[in-house]
Amino acid sequence: MAILDEDDSYVIQELSHSLSAAKYPVVFTGAGMSTESGLPDFRSSSKGLWKKVHPDTVASVSAMNENVQSFIDFYYNRMKNQQQAGPNTGHKILADWEQRGLLSSIITQNVDGLHQEAGNENVIELHGTLRKCHCNRCGTVYPDTLFLEGNYKCPCGGLIRPSVVLFGESLPVDAFYQASDEAEKSDLFIVLGSSLSVSPANQFPLEAKRNGAKLVIVNMEPTEMDDAADLIVRDWKIGELLEMVNRFI
Ligand code: APR
Repeated sequence: MAILDEDDSYVIQELSHSLSAAKYPVVFTGAGMSTESGLPDFRSSSKGLWKKVHPDTVASVSAMNENVQSFIDFYYNRMKNQQQAGPNTGHKILADWEQRGLLSSIITQNVDGLHQEAGNENVIELHGTLRKCHCNRCGTVYPDTLFLEGNYKCPCGGLIRPSVVLFGESLPVDAFYQASDEAEKSDLFIVLGSSLSVSPANQFPLEAKRNGAKLVIVNMEPTEMDDAADLIVRDWKIGELLEMVNRFI
């Protein structure tokens, strides 16, 4: 049980009251949502993935076209990592909140599928998913197991690649417009575990704010959108915070 100081109690009270009063609460998640499942994030000052390797060399269209072995190795390791990870306390509480009608939807930048595995049904995946692959030429969809077994060649001759959005690719159109719609409808928009440094995903918190939503940012480190937030929660791990808030709603 964390020892709450007056700031903590204010945060818990603010969050639980806002959630209980909200008509259309939307949660927006980043890689910080899954670190408590053992998956690394990208920009954490200590151990973010992009502190070890530059995304252009492994997670971009140019890497896929010109550096295909590094591209394959990078995603093979992420898929392997992914298989060991399961939903954490935070994921499970968000699923419970959806079931109780306390959460309208989740917009996620994550590709790990852990929100759906925890039980959330209304999940918008802005950056695709690591749980599927498709042929980069003909678009045929394949299970991730094929990629993990080392099959990268589609019968059409194209490359079988993970169905994540690479740097240099645009977001899936339907996900983009669904997320925009959710941001517009929300009256409470809670960011969980994102540095908000990648566009256009980082525009949705601002879109919600412009449409009158209360914007809450829960993140261990400062984000690029902190100035727009009504409430910033900095020194809480997401799982512990949601667990504490859950006691009051
Ligand atoms: N509780 C709270 N915050 C956390 C936790 C935690 N348990 N773990 C990590 N964080 C914070 C980190 O401090 C970091 O600022 O989560 C944030 C994650 O930020 P990023 O690593 O930048 O991840 P994200 O914002 O999701 O990146 C967006 O960039 O590389 C692309 O496609 C990739 O979807 C990703 C996008």
